[in-house]
Amino acid sequence: MATTAPKKVIVMTGGNIGIGFECAKLILSSLSNVHLVLGCRDSGRADRGVSKLKAVAAESNTVESKPLQLASFASVRRFAEDINASFPQGIHTLILNAGLMACSRQLTEDKYEMNMQVNHLSQFLLAQLLLPSLRTGHATWPDEPSSVIFVSSSLHKAGVGRGKDPNLTMENVDGALEFDGMLFYRNSKLCQATCMHLMAASLKDGPVTVNAICPGFVPTTDLKRESGLATRILMDNVISKVSAASTAAEGGARVFETIAKDRRAKNGVYYDKEGPGESSEESRDPAKQKLWWNWTCQAVGLDSLVQ
Ligand SMILES: NC(=O)c1ccc[n+]([C@@H]2O[C@H](COP(=O)([O-])OP(=O)(O)OC[C@H]3O[C@@H](n4cnc5c(N)ncnc54)[C@H](OP(=O)(O)O)[C@@H]3O)[C@@H](O)[C@H]2O)c1
Repeated sequence: MATTAPKKVIVMTGGNIGIGFECAKLILSSLSNVHLVLGCRDSGRADRGVSKLKAVAAESNTVESKPLQLASFASVRRFAEDINASFPQGIHTLILNAGLMACSRQLTEDKYEMNMQVNHLSQFLLAQLLLPSLRTGHATWPDEPSSVIFVSSSLHKAGVGRGKDPNLTMENVDGALEFDGMLFYRNSKLCQATCMHLMAASLKDGPVTVNAICPGFVPTTDLKRESGLATRILMDNVISKVSAASTAAEGGARVFETIAKDRRAKNGVYYDKEGPGESSEESRDPAKQKLWWNWTCQAVGLDSLVQ
């Protein structure tokens, strides 16, 4: 008697709204035999997202949410334990989508700057904690590598977008000397891209690949929720009409493309909205990679330092 393959387990951070939600819709409506887990910080918002997703899911697919507050390393560890315990068959894909742009300087309970912890540190930690599950997942679904996708932003590059260019320094890593919400969003995405490259290199030729995708500029999402009213109105009604802008559905589709067989077969690639591209020069600098990888490992309490 033929055995039924277990559903492929896909884990996504966020996904109850925005670009991640659009990607989740595509996963559930166009793939088959998939179980999608969303890591969400607010149970009410998570439930609303999940019930909308259930309405579009193909018959063979299922979706649930589990609690995940990325501003807390303890919550990230609990979420990873929950995933490891719930899915002994492993996981097939990890999409690190959640993100925010904190406009005022806030320190998390772990004493890191909010943008840096939510957008980079916590999701790096989650990727490391779920590596054993991703390896097990490859044994369960051996046809293609297990895959980690970092949702990046082209704003990690100098000269892209408006405002101050990224300026990631050890001296001001917590924003105590100078703080600007956009600058720290950009710094967090730069640190993420920098560590993505070393993580991919550390897993070279193994069963898990690591790539990044910038979904394009999507002015209509809630990423701007902490901006002033005038900015939010302008983004929704004027800036969203310019040719450089994408819809949330287009952004979600770009993230979705990154989990396809051909793209997950690659390792260490930075995709942008046109296809395979390049992350910033700074993020590809081996000295910077070593510096920020070591800082990141120390911050999240992992000891895999690059010598
Ligand atoms: N919009 C753009 O132009 C753009 C461009 C490039 C890259 N990106 C990236 O795309 C990703 C998705 O952004 P989006 O535009 O879709 O924004 P969004 O609509 O605000 O969605 C952000 C998601 O992240 C979740 N989240 C935020 N803080 C969290 C925390 N502390 N713990 C757990 N989850 C948290 C949110 O949950 P709640 O619903 O609970 O708030 C939501 O599900 C982000 O990584 C962003 O940096 C966006």
